[in-house]
Amino acid sequence: MQLALSFSALLASVLFVLSATDSGVQAAPAKRARTVTLPLTRLHQNRGDVHPQVLLQQHINRSQRRIARMRGVAPPSKRELEQNLAKRLYIPAGGRPGKVQKRFNRVGTKGSVSLVEEDDDAKFEPFAKAAGRKGKGKGKAGTAGANSNAGGNSGAAASASGLTPANAPTANNSLGLAIEAQDVGYIATIQMGTPPRDFNILMDSGSADLWVGAENCQSESGGDCGNHTFLGPQSSSTFTDTNKQFQVTYGTGNVQGDIIQDNIVVAGLALNAHTFGVATAESVDFSSDSVPFDGLMGLAQSTLSEQGVLTPVEALAQAGLIGDAITSYKISRLADNKNDGEITFGGLDPTKFDASTLVTFDNVATDGFWEGAMDGVTVDGQDTGLQGRSAILDTGTTLIVAPPADATAVHQLIDGAQDDGQGGFTIPCNTNASVALSFGGQEFAIDTRDLVFAQADATGTNCVSGISSGQIVDDVTWLVGDVFLKNAYYSTDVTKNQISLAKLV
Ligand SMILES: *[C@@H]1O[C@H](CO)[C@@H](O)[C@H](O)[C@H]1NC(C)=O
Ligand SMILES: *[C@@H]1O[C@H](CO)[C@@H](O)[C@H](O)[C@H]1NC(C)=O
Ligand SMILES: *[C@@H]1O[C@H](CO)[C@@H](O)[C@H](O)[C@H]1NC(C)=O
Ligand SMILES: *[C@@H]1O[C@H](CO)[C@@H](O)[C@H](O)[C@H]1NC(C)=O
Repeated sequence: MQLALSFSALLASVLFVLSATDSGVQAAPAKRARTVTLPLTRLHQNRGDVHPQVLLQQHINRSQRRIARMRGVAPPSKRELEQNLAKRLYIPAGGRPGKVQKRFNRVGTKGSVSLVEEDDDAKFEPFAKAAGRKGKGKGKAGTAGANSNAGGNSGAAASASGLTPANAPTANNSLGLAIEAQDVGYIATIQMGTPPRDFNILMDSGSADLWVGAENCQSESGGDCGNHTFLGPQSSSTFTDTNKQFQVTYGTGNVQGDIIQDNIVVAGLALNAHTFGVATAESVDFSSDSVPFDGLMGLAQSTLSEQGVLTPVEALAQAGLIGDAITSYKISRLADNKNDGEITFGGLDPTKFDASTLVTFDNVATDGFWEGAMDGVTVDGQDTGLQGRSAILDTGTTLIVAPPADATAVHQLIDGAQDDGQGGFTIPCNTNASVALSFGGQEFAIDTRDLVFAQADATGTNCVSGISSGQIVDDVTWLVGDVFLKNAYYSTDVTKNQISLAKLV
């Protein structure tokens, strides 16, 4: 039975601290401590069971920390985030501002977190009740259309692990991308160790390290690290410890372990003695049986790697197994029921996009992320007037987070949109607004099913917008996640330091 309400770990931002071990070196505190944010999308339960405003705040929390750490600016304090949440929990009924209707509280239970009604006000039907708690069975992650525009896709194909498996990839050097829950994470299966075994790995364009759980992994809650596949000397004859350690700390838990070398196989391409991490200790947020992945693969540039090593795609290119260090993504949408998500290494899969719409532009980030100049933003063809913007394109982020003035400018052009005053916007659930972002002179429209993030109340009238506001880096930088990336073919090229986007076919 899936812990349907466990959301504490949802979309946690990760503080990744790497420190060298003593290993003979006695001098000074030569410990390297850098931070980078990893994108752990951890929504394994039915979205309808979590109050959408809480869900939104979780996404915003995570996005804010993510960008803050990306850019080395101070992340918002815990207190600020808590205050935001406290404010957000007073949900206006029917979008009418000002009227306090319901408050929720988080109650932890054995590592999980439940939403309970703290303040009973019969006038407000909590969304989860009204929508029905359909997602209680283990792994029914895709059940219940929290998104009324999602066409009632039931996610019936979702496996017991909360993953909707992908079809076999059609291109060479490619892996299917399974969908976690309702478009929350994108997971591929790679092989590790000798003999090689399958590991389910979250694929992320916004970080640059690879890790999985260690054989001797212990959960902080006691016991082992759950129903996952682990790597270590007992299961792999080629496993080698480098005697260096790493630690991951994220919103509601942490992971720490060893930097090791072992053979990995990515899309049939073998990398021997690749350097990456195994976690020997995980908080329950990782070790829970309901977490449908065994580790994470960062596919930003290795300048961002805390382990100080090449990313798998860079290593594949260096080994001559692929021509260029290119990673391409077809991020699929559960509601489409196509299961055609795919990640391709070394090139683009021409069957996934319309070549006449392909645009390639420079990566403007200097710190290892993938960030492109965003030429413009329109709503139903109307120009918002926003210029000189850039967008970090991040498969590990769910929402789009725009600087506050920009988020306001976009929603001003959406009929019926309302600012909740706390970083979120509501839009009519039946909106037909077409928000389009332009890169390289090409417009890419966001499907309204993606723009409509979740219902904001029980009536099904108001929905939470997939574009939220956050002053994270500066006034011109957007964090653009899967709400957008589901609408384009996305490719990154380390060799040329360029990004490509094309319209999907
Ligand atoms: C947002 O972050 C704050 C501070 O870390 C935390 O207390 C709060 O629970 C987070 N909100 C959600 C919805 O997770
Ligand atoms: C995959 O690679 C093989 C061998 O290099 C080639 O014959 C085949 O055409 C390729 N398939 C696709 C879909 O590119
Ligand atoms: C563990 O994972 C396997 C494979 O994903 C699944 O078949 C099995 O039901 C899971 N067991 C538990 C207790 O979650
Ligand atoms: C959007 O289009 C649909 C179908 O044409 C229509 O039923 C609906 O009312 C429209 N929504 C709005 C907000 O105009």
